[in-house]
Amino acid sequence: MLIRPETAQDLTAIRAITTSAFFGRIHGTGKEYLLVEALRDAGALSVSLVAEAHGKVIGHIGFSPVTINSKECGWFGLAPLSVSPEMQRQGIGRALVHEGLGALRKIGAHGCVVLGDRQYYAHFGFHPCAELRLEGVPPEYFMAQSFGAAVPHGRVDYHPAFDLCA
Ligand SMILES: CC(C)(COP(=O)(O)OP(=O)(O)OC[C@H]1O[C@@H](n2cnc3c(N)ncnc32)[C@H](O)[C@@H]1OP(=O)(O)O)[C@@H](O)C(=O)NCCC(=O)NCCS
Repeated sequence: MLIRPETAQDLTAIRAITTSAFFGRIHGTGKEYLLVEALRDAGALSVSLVAEAHGKVIGHIGFSPVTINSKECGWFGLAPLSVSPEMQRQGIGRALVHEGLGALRKIGAHGCVVLGDRQYYAHFGFHPCAELRLEGVPPEYFMAQSFGAAVPHGRVDYHPAFDLCA
């Protein structure tokens, strides 16, 4: 399996994987593919990686800048993360998150937040964080990790494209 940045040739496959991965999920909206595309169109898909095996795209992860107290400060949000349903539980999601966090560090990010399953994201160094809050979300589902700097305090807002997926 190869993890690499997306290219223009991957966009249809990313749409299909995002749609199928979230289909029927309790927290899925069915609009996650629109989120990826809206972020890309806005130039806000700062890191976008695909997992490829035998020439086929089987997973995708995206990261976009978040604001803290309405200011951009080098923090990013992980979302969405998708693995083809027939390829799940084989370590592909794990590889995408690891590579994605590495790519974020390379572009000088200070930290990353994620909204999701606490047990799953704890594997990657995310933990609930008293300093940061996301409006309307119970704190146990909202996690953060700093890449070294002190964690800022305040309200986190994802890119406006996330409103499309709400
Ligand atoms: C979440 C998702 C990306 C995980 O991808 P994956 O390739 O199946 O995950 P991995 O195989 O790398 O699993 C890594 C670990 O998480 C565990 N895990 C995987 N899916 C899990 C799930 N749905 N619930 C709980 N644990 C899970 C695995 O057991 C593994 O742990 P282990 O190594 O200790 O056994 C995939 O299930 C998916 O696409 N889900 C639908 C979309 C979604 O919910 N995305 C995340 C929110 S943005």
